[in-house]
Amino acid sequence: MTTTGLVPLPPRPPTSPRPERAPDAYLPMQQVTEQIAFLPDGWDAERRQKVRELFDGLAPEWHTRGGPDRVAPTVDALERGGVPAGGVALEIGSGTGLQTPPLAERFDYVVSVDLAAAMLALAERRTGVGLVRADASRLPVGPASADVVVCVNAFLFPDEYARVLRPGGRVVFVSTSGDQTPIYLAPEKVVAALAPALGGAHAVTSKCGHGSWTVVARAEHGAPDCPR
Ligand SMILES: C[S@@+](CC[C@H](N)C(=O)[O-])C[C@H]1O[C@@H](n2cnc3c(N)ncnc32)[C@H](O)[C@@H]1O
Repeated sequence: MTTTGLVPLPPRPPTSPRPERAPDAYLPMQQVTEQIAFLPDGWDAERRQKVRELFDGLAPEWHTRGGPDRVAPTVDALERGGVPAGGVALEIGSGTGLQTPPLAERFDYVVSVDLAAAMLALAERRTGVGLVRADASRLPVGPASADVVVCVNAFLFPDEYARVLRPGGRVVFVSTSGDQTPIYLAPEKVVAALAPALGGAHAVTSKCGHGSWTVVARAEHGAPDCPR
């Protein structure tokens, strides 16, 4: 039997006004994000190439998107989302590593995965963090090898994350600009995409500053599926 629940926690309000974004700056990528999460053909070779070229091109200016406000939702998700410290975390779509420091502090080992070589080339080398160029739809790690899969502004590949996540593990999905984040799924959609693949799940969600997050916990006794 699969069980699913989504519990909202109180928001932590922003301390500054939210910078407004024009919908055409985020809606097209939100559609792509939804297709990838829900459609079997949502991710193909043509889309992979376009996405890789897009982010290789954005890499030189990506550092301008850093800062404490952008990391706060990730820290909040780990803390209030009840993510156990220690173990192995896979950081999906790690970019230039702006979100890696709180992960490196919390987990024993972090594997930061990105499709775009130009992004990884700009990431700081840190003890306890491996940088891997790979496509998150086919991760170069074994079944049930990760305690946590972390996606900060990164695509959800439900079957692949279910393959690599151990029973009792967590998927952490963070959107640093909330529902104006280009790579964004509403919390209900994060759960709807992951729960069938995980064989049931419980989730908590909240907002922190301008960001939002959802942490999905796989059942401790659920056998990991290994769909490929
Ligand atoms: C919006 S950026 C987020 C970067 C970083 N997490 C941050 O918040 O600063 C999305 C990142 O995901 C990477 N990406 C996109 N598709 C991917 C895939 N299939 N596998 C691995 N990385 C991917 C991109 O290259 C890009 O670096």
